[in-house]
Amino acid sequence: MIQSLSIRRPDDWHLHLRDGAMLAAVLPHSARHFARAIVMPNLVPPVVTGVDARAYRNRILAALPEGMTFTPLMTLYLTEETDPEDVAAAHANGLISAVKLYPAGATTNSASGVRDFDKVRPVLERMAVIGLPLCVHGEVTDPAVDIFDREAMFIDRVLDPLRRATPGLRVVMEHVTTSDAVAYVSAHERDLAATITTHHLVINRNHILAGGIRPHYYCLPVAKREEHRLALRLAATSGDARFFLGTDSAPHTDPLKQGACGCAGCFTAPNTLSILAHVFEEEGALNNLEGFTSLHGPAFYGLPPNETHITLTKGAPVAYPAKIKTGDGPVTVFDPGFALHWRVT
Ligand code: DOR
Ligand code: ZN
Repeated sequence: MIQSLSIRRPDDWHLHLRDGAMLAAVLPHSARHFARAIVMPNLVPPVVTGVDARAYRNRILAALPEGMTFTPLMTLYLTEETDPEDVAAAHANGLISAVKLYPAGATTNSASGVRDFDKVRPVLERMAVIGLPLCVHGEVTDPAVDIFDREAMFIDRVLDPLRRATPGLRVVMEHVTTSDAVAYVSAHERDLAATITTHHLVINRNHILAGGIRPHYYCLPVAKREEHRLALRLAATSGDARFFLGTDSAPHTDPLKQGACGCAGCFTAPNTLSILAHVFEEEGALNNLEGFTSLHGPAFYGLPPNETHITLTKGAPVAYPAKIKTGDGPVTVFDPGFALHWRVT
């Protein structure tokens, strides 16, 4: 039985670092284990221009504790006013690694997102030419569509038409939660990949709603039925390079999570790798963990994998805090509901 595993240092291909006091509190938890992360731009106000991205990157680097290394890979928040020239310049300068598409109203701080997809066509066409990936929050926002169907509906109504209209556009379907999304990505050989979060490999919708409402398991896209969780686990542990880790670690303070209208997001940065090792071991796929956390993402983004390694060791239960303190208030760490035995050493 494997008790120790050395893998290339992982990257997180979808991460919310926030800003200010929250950034200072959460950044070390990602930097401890991850070398790089695709940093989401849904601040208030959002990161929409190259100038915004440069300033945000500087704030992240300034918040990094002495002695830690971490490379934030910046993204721009796509709006109907986004200038293709600004995007191309930020890409040419090496400032951004992707552009993020939020359908307006789909999730936290998405009000400035896209309503009319025709209005962003020039940006998407330019991105296809320069090879800049589009990270997509794949949910329709039509209030008539059931929240559990919004991802599957997005594929038919938005994603597939958009990809057909923009040949060559490289797309990452972010935080997929359904077997429909897994099937769609699996059916395409080129220019399409998906990130999978840690928490969607662990919870289904019963964890949120059965026996009491558990706000710390609420995120968007919301966790679906068990059959979908199993499809995600198969995809993540399969070794298929189109699937890679994007934790979507998304801190909100307890008062914001636990209110009458709680925010969406699971904070998984502190214990993600211990949970993933547990999941991959359960699936008999520890040999595919490195691909998922450390190889497939860089390959899609055209970056070299990290040179350094981390070691995961199995032993006595791993202690991690139930909450972390931040200048904005306490943030609850994701509880997978089982003891963790894999620690990063
Ligand atoms: O659960 C989520 N939280 N999903 C998102 O899409 C946004 C994120 C956040 O920023 O809190
Ligand atoms: Zn996210």
